[in-house]
Amino acid sequence: MKFFIDTANLAQIKEAHELGVLDGVTTNPSLMAKEGISGVENQHKHYVEICNLVQGDVSAEVIATDYEGMIREGKELVALHPNIVVKVPCIADGIRAIKYFSSNGIRTNCTLVFSTGQALLAAKAGATYVSPFVGRLDDVSENGVALVGEIVEMYRYYDYPTQVLAASIRHTRHIIQCVEVGADVATCPLSAIKGLLKHPLTDSGLAQFLADYKKVNG
Ligand code: E4P
Repeated sequence: MKFFIDTANLAQIKEAHELGVLDGVTTNPSLMAKEGISGVENQHKHYVEICNLVQGDVSAEVIATDYEGMIREGKELVALHPNIVVKVPCIADGIRAIKYFSSNGIRTNCTLVFSTGQALLAAKAGATYVSPFVGRLDDVSENGVALVGEIVEMYRYYDYPTQVLAASIRHTRHIIQCVEVGADVATCPLSAIKGLLKHPLTDSGLAQFLADYKKVNG
């Protein structure tokens, strides 16, 4: 499974990259706002900085909600760097835009996906990635991981090449559950990625090894 980090924070992206396991980055308008990045020029500069930090795909979201606006913005975004993937919301004009982008060799991430039907439309339009939002479904008492599993099965059954990118991951357990249902990618906060490392038996085992080494080596 590929690991993306879900943030626009350069320090966190750098830290995840330095771990050596990062495959890409996803951003959204809320994450960009959290970093205080305003104005199209600054946003574009920021996307380029992110692309220069990591080797993999970087999702940059369109703000327009109409077809022509999405096409215009998407073209501007992909011109910034070859690793940019245009993130498009799962609405009617978004599906039309994904169809346009896929027919013109532009990669897309269909975002704000909350049902199998939406994921079906995204795949039929040729999305590169589809992003079911696990945590936000759990927040309303639905089962986010189950949706990821249903989409994985549907894509395998019909042989759609669209990759299932589990999004809105809130904690380490979500990552493990997404592995269990076969997600292609999980985009996670840094804390959830680092959480995978934690185990008290690793810590106590290491302490014991070092203590035993010292006993004979001083
Ligand atoms: C997806 O790419 C979104 O950026 C993100 O995962 C949303 O997560 P949230 O529900 O924690 O805001």
